[in-house]
Amino acid sequence: LLQLLPQDRSLPPVVFHYIPWFGSAAHYGDNPIKFFFDCREKYGPVFTFVLLGRRVTVALDPAGNNFIMGGKHTVFSAEDAYTHLTTPVFGKDVVYDCPNELLMEQKKFVKFGLSTDNFRAYVGMIEDEVSGFMKNEPSFRVFQANDINEWGSFEAAKTMSEITILTASRTLQGKEVRSKITKEYAAVFNDLDGGFTPLHWMFPNLPLPSYRKRDAAHKKISELYVSIIRNRRENPGQEEEHDMIASLMGQKYRAGRALKDHEIAHIMIALLMAGQHTSSATSSWALLHIADRTDIGEALYEEQVKHFRQPDGSWRTMEYEEIKDLPVMDSVIRETLRIHPPLHSIMRAVREDAVVPQTLASPSEDGQYVIPKGYMVMSSAAVSQIDPMLWKNAQQWDPLRWSDPEGVAAQAYKAYNDADGAKVDFGFGLVSKGTESPYQPFGAGRHRCIGEQFAYLQLSTLIATVIRQVELKLPEGGVPPPNYHTMITLPKTPATILYRRRKFD
Ligand code: HEM
Repeated sequence: LLQLLPQDRSLPPVVFHYIPWFGSAAHYGDNPIKFFFDCREKYGPVFTFVLLGRRVTVALDPAGNNFIMGGKHTVFSAEDAYTHLTTPVFGKDVVYDCPNELLMEQKKFVKFGLSTDNFRAYVGMIEDEVSGFMKNEPSFRVFQANDINEWGSFEAAKTMSEITILTASRTLQGKEVRSKITKEYAAVFNDLDGGFTPLHWMFPNLPLPSYRKRDAAHKKISELYVSIIRNRRENPGQEEEHDMIASLMGQKYRAGRALKDHEIAHIMIALLMAGQHTSSATSSWALLHIADRTDIGEALYEEQVKHFRQPDGSWRTMEYEEIKDLPVMDSVIRETLRIHPPLHSIMRAVREDAVVPQTLASPSEDGQYVIPKGYMVMSSAAVSQIDPMLWKNAQQWDPLRWSDPEGVAAQAYKAYNDADGAKVDFGFGLVSKGTESPYQPFGAGRHRCIGEQFAYLQLSTLIATVIRQVELKLPEGGVPPPNYHTMITLPKTPATILYRRRKFD
């Protein structure tokens, strides 16, 4: 009843809920996107909901994205929002367990390792890993002669998760980690991963086995990295490494000191976690949609044939520069990330009272909302990316919208541009990276992703290697709906894809 009494007019409207502490946890947790759209209709683009005792103010639409992603880090803090989840997994002194300025330096170090030179070396390695997986994995042996004309099947998320960790470890993580991943360390990585769930975000320390396993796994993996680093220090110059450990070992903070071994180890764990689920979810969704739209599958295949099929029928490895010039592949990934951004909610903790711009939402013509210190804020590009007010056929997976400058989405978008001072360039390859963009699968602003180019490289090479060898289709039932119960939005299971080895002419 208290909720029906007039509240402080400067506070954003609170979403009605029956159970005080629990609040809207069930609605939000079950389907945050529907929850956000429903609330926007009732309360406008800025509203507060109660989530297990926390007050969370959501700001939607491109203006809301801009307000939160472009906000000062002294007002909206990522470290305060995430550290209790990430520090037990990544470890001390990195990412959200250090002052924000140090994170910015660490991101620069990592960017340095994500160089074009290294990317050039990675394409062949990824191709090799994916082909090897398809050849040797019992559930995916497409080269067995009797597979021609027969349809096999694989589980999208499980298969992509395995391929992603193999390709990431072979490239970024380095050969020592790659050699451990499928052997004695597989279960340990799994335990660490088990610490990265919504439950662990809400309750960082419960006396449950998964928490103990997380801590033991962190210790073991951290020690593994430190031993790799020490071994490399003691045996320098054996061969040139293109991985991130090698790159981080050569970096120095502005203060003049090199990174300590445990800092390198913990950055490596952070990168593993940041790239693993995001990329494997994206490749799962991409392959599911390609299997659903066989015309797009064939367009992708034709693109590969045109550029990389040799006269004798074999395939040549793509050059890194060539990957960036594959319009069908690029649109498939771009469109997959529009409909299925792996992160549906971006969170920050409010460190100082924050005034909401009137143009975004206000209680009255001369009033302004204030989000009090101690609240959390949330932005969701997952909403603006499928908002029917911004995109035509917003819910439809249609890669062609990106490659056709006169296409429906481009026109829908132009209206937005014109209304908003033409801040956003729309069209193939031109989506703004600004905080005000409605398309932000990699975030925006200070905490924007630095793994985007690596992810595109990894995803393009993976999809190309699969599509060169097999045709895909879906069983009855189409693309499965999203499961929002994990940190990263995955397809609900079963998410089965059928495949058949291609016949070469
Ligand atoms: C940050 C998405 C792959 C490393 C982010 C953020 C998003 C995102 C939305 C912003 C988070 C926030 O503002 O709170 C994605 C997607 C990926 C991907 C969709 C793949 C499809 C990767 C990979 C790496 C990586 C492969 C590492 C190689 C990072 C790092 C940050 C970040 C270091 C910065 C965190 C910060 O500054 O607070 N990513 N990511 N990501 N991502 Fe990614």
